[in-house]
Amino acid sequence: MIVLGVETSCDETSAAIIKDNTVLSSIISSQEIHSQFGGVVPELASRAHIRLIVPIVEKALKESGLDPNDIDGLAVTKGPGLVGALLVGVNFIKGLSVSWQKPFVGVNHIEGHIYGNLLSQKSEIRFPIIFLIVSGGHTQIVLMRNHLQYEILGKTRDDAVGEAYDKGAKLLGLGYPGGPKIDILAKQGNPDFVKFPRALMNNDAFDFSYSGLKTALLVYLRDLHEKEKEIHLADICASYQKAAVEVLVKKTLLAAQKFGAKTIGIAGGVAANTLLRDWLKIECDQRKYELYLPDIVYCTDNAAMIARAGLEHLKRGKRDEQTLNAFPSLILQSFPNH
Ligand code: KG4
Ligand code: ZN
Repeated sequence: MIVLGVETSCDETSAAIIKDNTVLSSIISSQEIHSQFGGVVPELASRAHIRLIVPIVEKALKESGLDPNDIDGLAVTKGPGLVGALLVGVNFIKGLSVSWQKPFVGVNHIEGHIYGNLLSQKSEIRFPIIFLIVSGGHTQIVLMRNHLQYEILGKTRDDAVGEAYDKGAKLLGLGYPGGPKIDILAKQGNPDFVKFPRALMNNDAFDFSYSGLKTALLVYLRDLHEKEKEIHLADICASYQKAAVEVLVKKTLLAAQKFGAKTIGIAGGVAANTLLRDWLKIECDQRKYELYLPDIVYCTDNAAMIARAGLEHLKRGKRDEQTLNAFPSLILQSFPNH
C-alpha cells in the first residue's frame, strides 16, 4: 500500500510518501522564524504552513518518482496540536482527496510518533510494548498489546519533558529548541554537580511532573554569579538532563515489569536524546527487554510517521469524510473507537 502523509501540527511542515514500511520520500521544513521568539508563535506557524504545504507535497511526490495515480490513500494529522496549524493540513488533504479521487484518514499525532518508531524497526513487531512518548507537548507511558491498541498508563500533570528542556535552555540563554542544545553541552558536564529534584519518584504510578524541575533551575540560577554560570554551564546542563531523564527511565522500566512487556519503545522529539537512548539501552540489555529506538529523523515531527500510522487505519478500511475537523486536544484512542 502506498500512502502520502502530511504533518502540520506545530512548526514543521512535512510531506512524505511510504510504501508499506519503506519511506520513498520525506520532506521536512522546520520553520526558522520562531527561534527569535524563543518558542512557537501559532499565527506565524499557520501562515508558514499555508506558504509551504503545496511546494513540499510537490517535492515529496517528485522525489518518490511516483505519479498521483500510484497513491492508494492519504493521511493527515488531525490533532493534537495548534488548531490553526492543524487546519492547514486537514483542509489541504480534503482538497487533495477530491482532486486525486483518493480516500483519506485523519491521524492522531501521538499515534504518529509511535509509528515513527515502528517504521524504524526492520524485524517483526513484538507486543506487548511499553511506549514512552516524550515530546515538546507530551509525556506519557502507553501500553500497546497490538497494532492501534493503546492503554495510557500515565502522563504529565503539568509540563512535558520537552517543554522542560526548552524552558530550561531559555533560562540558560541557549535558545530554542533547547533539547538538542542541552543534550550536546551535557556531554562535557558532571551530571552530579547540582542535585535537581526528581518529581513523583516515590510512588509507583506512572504520572510525571516537570514544572518543579524548571522552577528549581530558575531558583538555582538566581543565586548564581554570572561567572559561575559560564564556567559550569555544561555541569548544570548535565545535572538538569540527568534529573529529567532518570524519572523517564525508572517509570518506563517499572511499567514494563508490571505489565510483562517484551519490548520498550520511545517516541517523540526527546527520543533523540543521547542520555535517554544510552541509559535505556543499558537497562534493557540487563533485563532482556527488546529496545525499539526510532531513527533520529523520525523522532521530531515528520510526515512519514503520519503516513505509516495512516496506512494501518486505511488497510483496516477506515475512511474519513469531508466533514473532518482539527482537534487541538485530541487524546490517544484505540482503533476502531475514533
Ligand atoms: O515531537 P516534537 O518534534 O514536537 C512535538 O510534538 O512536541 O518534539 C520537539 C521537542 C522539543 O521540546 C525539543 O527540545 C525536543 O523535542 N528535543 C530534544 C532533543 N531533540 C529534540 N530533547 C532532548 N534531547 C534532544 N536531543
Ligand atoms: Zn510531535
